[in-house]
Amino acid sequence: MINVESEAELTRVELMAKNLQKQARISIRVNPNVDPKTHPYISTGLHENKFGVDIDTAKRMYISAKKSEYLDPIGIHCHIGSQLTQLAPIKESVNIVANLVRNIKAALDVELKFFDVGGGLGIVYDNETLINTYEYAQTILDALHGLDITIVCEPGRYLVGNSGVFVTKVLYEKTNGEKRFVVVDGAMNDLLRPTLYDAYHKIEVLGKSENSSTCNVVGPVCESGDFFAKDIELPLTEHNDLMAIYSSGAYGFTMASNYNTRGKVAEIAVEDGKDRLIRKRETFEDLIALEEQYLK
Ligand SMILES: Cc1ncc(COP(=O)(O)O)c(C=O)c1O
Repeated sequence: MINVESEAELTRVELMAKNLQKQARISIRVNPNVDPKTHPYISTGLHENKFGVDIDTAKRMYISAKKSEYLDPIGIHCHIGSQLTQLAPIKESVNIVANLVRNIKAALDVELKFFDVGGGLGIVYDNETLINTYEYAQTILDALHGLDITIVCEPGRYLVGNSGVFVTKVLYEKTNGEKRFVVVDGAMNDLLRPTLYDAYHKIEVLGKSENSSTCNVVGPVCESGDFFAKDIELPLTEHNDLMAIYSSGAYGFTMASNYNTRGKVAEIAVEDGKDRLIRKRETFEDLIALEEQYLK
């Protein structure tokens, strides 16, 4: 099914289905206006966020989808945000959306088959207390009591976040006045979360533990926002020491860019103690491969 998240998008999907002479199976993304209590950049379920439609708009969209011969309204979707560590906002939003399901069944005779609860389950980066997954499932089941509907979920970070480690090498140590900086060869283009969300990632210098002091871990890119951590305690490092930046499996490589003409890093999978290359490091030739040459 196509998750549609505005009236204009519904019109477009209908037109495309008509052109193809097909019926598009659609679901509508509802914005329940619930504060998910997470970082504002990964909050998606408030009316001030761009995502989804309010309840009244959703009802209008189900009415027009039902009338259309090119649309088949089969689902409903809701994703209030990411890195959620509290169950209460999830409970509130699934109850709102479940009531809408009942409502449109009774009032519009639209019987939905899929209830998509989105993703958002948080993981441990630091010392977060996580949502208990049994209670999460139970909350959803309770909200859907009496409805014959299939639950769909979209956990992203929960599946892969803690399984990725970003490994970088120390280039130099430097001090500006009193301030200690550890400059590494990775940068914000490789792992954007600290820059984008001020996110915390646990960092360890491999094989070192002596002479710890406070420092910022920074990359070589031309931005003051190019940092992995601020004011953390790390042992004294040397050129080529390896540093592990944990919990980089989600929104890490997928958010990477070629900013500052930096090739994207290689990816290595580790399974049963064995490692294998699963994506090659990008070369300069890769970076310019799509550029056209204009010879005069
Ligand atoms: C619609 C939707 N579903 C699921 C996800 C996955 O979120 P998470 O990784 O927090 O589980 C996202 C993330 O942006 C999303 O936008």
